[in-house]
Amino acid sequence: MEKEVGPPNTDYDRFVVRPLTPLFGAEISGLSVNELDDEAIKRVHEAWMDWKVLVFRNQDISSDDQLAFALNFGEVDRHPYLDAGKSEDISVLDNPGSPRFDRAYQAAVSATSKRELKAFGRWHTDATFRERPPYSSFLIARILPSVGGDTVWADMEQVYEGLSADIKSLIDGRTATHSVRKSSFVHGMSPEEKEEELKRFPPQHHPMVRTHPVTGRKSLYINSAFVDRIDGLSEGEGRELYRELTCEVHRPEYQMRLRWEVGTLSMWDNRCAQHYPVYDYYERRRMERVTLAGDRPS
Ligand code: OGA
Ligand code: MN
Repeated sequence: MEKEVGPPNTDYDRFVVRPLTPLFGAEISGLSVNELDDEAIKRVHEAWMDWKVLVFRNQDISSDDQLAFALNFGEVDRHPYLDAGKSEDISVLDNPGSPRFDRAYQAAVSATSKRELKAFGRWHTDATFRERPPYSSFLIARILPSVGGDTVWADMEQVYEGLSADIKSLIDGRTATHSVRKSSFVHGMSPEEKEEELKRFPPQHHPMVRTHPVTGRKSLYINSAFVDRIDGLSEGEGRELYRELTCEVHRPEYQMRLRWEVGTLSMWDNRCAQHYPVYDYYERRRMERVTLAGDRPS
């Protein structure tokens, strides 16, 4: 069958869709996520599968509303490392100061916490060190710096499509090893503590190319936060391929960037997109997240 070409749909009759880039990411206006009937939820899901990242502005909603909205699309997955908010089902990402510019603050945080606030963000798909990584996240901005603290996403289907035929045949059917080993979650732990975490979350061999269970489309599924090695290649070959592939997300053509406002809610699909929190700010930023459980990548 001829492959479909052209941009995704923008006609969902219940709301207005404004693409944030031609193929990837869309802002939905004209609805409040806590007032949706079943038909509207169905249409949101269609738009989500088409655009991968959806953005809703001005959502005056409680944590319970956020949770209730997310639960239309799956079951909650509690994050093993992030702090919990009002309920165990809400994760909190709260940077009280400057991740990038304030060295004293960074030192204080890494001395008192197992988590490190890094000088720069990292491209990642959430928690791929797990056997069944969460498939999506619903993130709302609660407190924001006056400027900065954007989030960038990359469309891993476009990344996959853009690879050469040679690379595609090298990675199709191959796995990569994902673990928590080098992630910020275990930074600052002793080697023994890290070993404990690796027992709790044994390294996983996930396919490098995954097929989306709903859309059937293929995407590149490796990320620099959690991938330790590419399986079945020599150390040198694997490292070179890893470097080449993890650089692909840097192409602006594959990206969308969100400038948050308080009350902006974003929902994304970890099965086909990666994201990058931009650590360029120096005032408090607090985000709250509901994460949904996913299947084993295949
Ligand atoms: C997340 C995450 C990005 C951000 O919630 O998984 O990476 O910009 N957040 O806060
Ligand atoms: Mn994340």
